[in-house]
Amino acid sequence: MGTLIKNGTIVTALDEYRGDVRLAGGKIVELGPMLEANGDTIVDASGQYVFPGGLDPHVHMELPFMGTVSADDFETGTAAGLAGGTTSIIDFVIPARNEDLMEALAAWHDKAAKSASDYAFHMAVTWWGDQTAEWMRRCVQEEGIPSFKTFMAYRGAIGVDDPELIHIMNTARELGALTTVHAEHGDMVVDLQDRLMAEGRNTPKDHALSRPAPLEGEATSRAIMLARMTKEPLYVVHVTCQQAAAAIIEARSRGQNVMGETCPQYLLLDDSVYDKPNFEGAAYVMSPPIRPRGHQEPLWAALASGALQVVATDHCPFNQVGQKDMGKDDFRKIPNGAAGIEHRLALMYTYGVLAGRLSLQQFVDVTSTRAAKIFGLYPQKGSITVGADADLVVWDPAATGKISASTHHHKCDRNIFEGFETKGAPSHVFSNGMLRYSGGNLMAERGAGRYLKRSL
Ligand code: URP
Ligand code: ZN
Ligand code: ZN
Repeated sequence: MGTLIKNGTIVTALDEYRGDVRLAGGKIVELGPMLEANGDTIVDASGQYVFPGGLDPHVHMELPFMGTVSADDFETGTAAGLAGGTTSIIDFVIPARNEDLMEALAAWHDKAAKSASDYAFHMAVTWWGDQTAEWMRRCVQEEGIPSFKTFMAYRGAIGVDDPELIHIMNTARELGALTTVHAEHGDMVVDLQDRLMAEGRNTPKDHALSRPAPLEGEATSRAIMLARMTKEPLYVVHVTCQQAAAAIIEARSRGQNVMGETCPQYLLLDDSVYDKPNFEGAAYVMSPPIRPRGHQEPLWAALASGALQVVATDHCPFNQVGQKDMGKDDFRKIPNGAAGIEHRLALMYTYGVLAGRLSLQQFVDVTSTRAAKIFGLYPQKGSITVGADADLVVWDPAATGKISASTHHHKCDRNIFEGFETKGAPSHVFSNGMLRYSGGNLMAERGAGRYLKRSL
């Protein structure tokens, strides 16, 4: 006996129809109108949508970073995801420079075993040495990790230079794997940081000024050029600005296989957040930073046109007290990142679908289906088809909410969307057929999530 979700409006990236969904043994086993209960537990979805569970392909749970560790671990972070309708994540294994990639992978598996929802990994290639190509081969052919992350920023830490990036792209191409990139001109950022600090400019606002949009535009164009020359597909993470979006649009217009992701914070916030008094701007310190007004509409347009395909969160929370305040006198020491996994769907539904910027199908595509396709998880994830994993969200379009750190499930003392009103929320969230969230009750189970091996 399983669960029968009855009378909902089933929405996929392609269509929308009234019907019932039967879940059993962790899978979707039947779809159709007027299915019989046959002893199943019934969930009445009348007046509600049924979406594929959200897939967030860009998160950092318990990431050691900038002298601290991101505040959500795999259990609390995936639980927060379940509360908001995200049922799978792809986290990044990030080895230190000179660290053995396979040892870092083993450490990530240890940390992630407590995940409450399913999870996969990208491998960050943070340095090039004699063994790197062989480690990349093992990732793709043995470990189910066919996507690699590269950082053009964070020089002197996890960032790579152009020769290293070229090695990585060439090797990824030979392996049939996908290169993803954090695109900022790392050396120029360091120079601007040093100059600002020398002038005594040490605040969260100065963090943003040290990483202006042209540096992201240039690095995005450079990564695109390197990908073009190495004949490697490219996925640009957290696109924040008009210049980077334009570079991706131009590449795609030439037929180059370049894809891009943005995040709710870059669509919905502008750089006035850095003017908040009492060091509150630190909550918004992330890289790339929140951009000045004027960059948000081009990102929405790129999403609507398909030039950007995915909305992820870059979930990487740090507490204001005890973590962000490490950089009280030096913005370079403020740990970069913020929480976001719980409210991605509600924000995209409210400010995307209800604001007329995205159709319901586009909403499902950018929050779930497209990432599943790009990263080799489709149709197991991101679809409502017989045989797919029973990861489903019953979405109540009439629900209203107001985001606050006082009520969120993130293990973090700030929420960068504090006070944002939302319309629409999950009434039920199923992960592998198990009800994990219902009527405000979170029933996340430590360790219930499974590791997802991927192939492209
Ligand atoms: O500020 C950010 N984005 N922190 C997480 C690491 C990264 O660059 O994605
Ligand atoms: Zn990044
Ligand atoms: Zn990130």
